[in-house]
Amino acid sequence: MLQFKLVLLGDSSVGKSSIVNRFVKDSFDEFRESTIGAAFLSQTVTIKDDDQDVTVKFEIWDTAGQERYKSLAPMYYRNSNAALVVYDITQADSLEKAQSWVHELKNKVDDNNLVIYLVGNKVDLTKDDEEKRVVDRDVAEKYAQENGLLFNEVSAKTGEGIQQIFQTIGENLYEV
Ligand code: GTP
Ligand code: MG
Repeated sequence: MLQFKLVLLGDSSVGKSSIVNRFVKDSFDEFRESTIGAAFLSQTVTIKDDDQDVTVKFEIWDTAGQERYKSLAPMYYRNSNAALVVYDITQADSLEKAQSWVHELKNKVDDNNLVIYLVGNKVDLTKDDEEKRVVDRDVAEKYAQENGLLFNEVSAKTGEGIQQIFQTIGENLYEV
């Protein structure tokens, strides 16, 4: 079994804990409390390599997005193999915050194989009301391409795209 460390970064309330909770427990909580410090969870994905099933285990650090915890983040991303940098597609400044995390990761993490996945969360909110969207999918996708990041829009609430994030990261790391 392969084991990788994964960290989640992003502004408070973008849905980092909700994404992890969807992936690890397949559940969602409308009134989730803001994370204090950081939380640790683990979950596996199965990757197909020809006929063989390969189990990849993720050790996940879900960091706290509130500004007062910002100085703790390096402790969690330093030895990571992958980072999910999350923003909320209904909050413009959360994309700017995500971009500053990407910048910091690229400057501070030595591992050139670090897989960075930019995640636009809460896509369910635009299903009834497209006006809720303030971050263009194309703008975020272009930024991701220019910076060599994986990218998708997801919903922790409905589960749309969540499993696929971890599946894709597992496949990317397995190739390395
Ligand atoms: P910090 O721990 O403070 O950094 O926040 P966080 O990024 O972990 O956010 P959290 O997962 O606690 O979610 C914040 C709020 O957004 C909660 O009320 C969630 O229910 C809600 N939320 C999270 N993901 C989604 C989503 O995909 N859709 C909708 N509609 N709400 C979501
Ligand atoms: Mg949290």
